[in-house]
Amino acid sequence: MQFDINEILRDNIKKLKPYSSARDEFQGEASIFLDANENNFGSPTDSLYNRYPDPQQWVVKKRISEIKGVPPQNIFLGNGSDEAIDILIRAFCRPGIDNIIVLPPTYGMYSVSAGINDVAIKEVPLTAAYQLDLEGIAEAIDPNTRLIFVCSPNNPTANSIIREDIETVLANFRGIVVVDEAYINYSRQKSFIQELTEYSNLVVLQTLSKAWGLAGLRVGMAFASQDVIEVLNKIKPPYNINEASQQLALQGLANIDKVNNWIRETIQEREQLAAALEALPFVQQVYPSDANFILVRTTAPRDIYSYLVNKGIIVRDRSSVILCDGCLRITVGTAEENLQLVATLKSFTI
Ligand SMILES: Cc1ncc(COP(=O)(O)O)c(C=O)c1O
Repeated sequence: MQFDINEILRDNIKKLKPYSSARDEFQGEASIFLDANENNFGSPTDSLYNRYPDPQQWVVKKRISEIKGVPPQNIFLGNGSDEAIDILIRAFCRPGIDNIIVLPPTYGMYSVSAGINDVAIKEVPLTAAYQLDLEGIAEAIDPNTRLIFVCSPNNPTANSIIREDIETVLANFRGIVVVDEAYINYSRQKSFIQELTEYSNLVVLQTLSKAWGLAGLRVGMAFASQDVIEVLNKIKPPYNINEASQQLALQGLANIDKVNNWIRETIQEREQLAAALEALPFVQQVYPSDANFILVRTTAPRDIYSYLVNKGIIVRDRSSVILCDGCLRITVGTAEENLQLVATLKSFTI
C-alpha cells in the first residue's frame, strides 16, 4: 500500500514554521559569539557548559550512523525514546479525532503519550503466544488510525514478534508502523533498520538506555525516512539533547567492545537465571526471553514481590496486566545479583 506522509501529517504541523535558534542561523567559524545571550564569561562547572548545544546533534548522529549503517539524515535523537514516541503522536494524530493502535501487554508510554495528547487508543491484545493478532489489527484499523506501535522484543513479555507478521502490517497499513527495538541488542532477531529503504512508513526506535548502559543520559533514537525525520525535528524543542548528554553519549559510543561484552554476559546470565527460576516450586512458567529481563508466571506474585521488597530486592509485579496473570518481570542483573535473587527466592514459602 502506498504511503503518503501528507495524508497523515497534521495540517498545523505542515504549516508550522519551526523555531530558528541562534545556532541554526549561524554555523560557520567565528571568534566572538554574541548571538545567543549566553554567559560569555564561562560556567561554574569543571566542563564548559555556557554555550548552547548543537540543536541537530550532528557529531553524535555521525557516530551512530557509522555504527548502525543509517545516514545521519535518517536519524532523530530524543530525550529518551519516550520523547520520540510523544513527538510521533503529536505530529500525526489530531487530538479528539485520530487514534493509535497498541498491542497489549506492551510498553505503557504509547498509551500514556496518546492519553496526554487526547488521542484515542485502540487495543488489540497479543495472542496467547504473545504474537500479533493480524486479523484483529486489520479490523481495528479505521480511516483515522495514524500509528501502530509494535514492540519487539516486547516489554513485558520479553519475546520477539514474528518478523513476517510485522512486515504484513507494514505492507498493509497506510499509516506509520513504529517498531520499538529498545531491547534489540539482546535479541536473536535482526533489527528492522535494514528495512527502512523498503518501507517508507517504518519508524524504528532504539535507545542508549538499555544495552548501552546510559539510561541516565536520556538519549533515544528514531530511524526513519528523511521526510519523517524532518517532521520530528520540526517539532522537538530546539535543544532537546543537552551538551553533557551529547558529550557522554559520544564517549559511550566509542566503547562498543565493552557494550558487546555486557550483552554476551547478560545473555549468559539470562539463560542461567531462567533455568534457576524454573526449578523453584512456585514458578509455573519462565517465558523465553530475547531481552535483558525475564517474565515469570508464579503461583503468588504479590506475596513474592512483597517478600523480595522486604529483603531489599525489587522486581516488577506485572500480575495485573492483561495476559500476564501471576507474572513478575525480572531484570537480568549481574552474576552476583542473580545468585542473591535465586538464593532469596529459595527461602520463600507461601
Ligand atoms: C519498550 C521500551 N521502549 C522505550 C523505553 C524508553 O526508553 P528511553 O529510556 O529511551 O526513553 C522503554 C523503557 O523501559 C521500553 O521498555
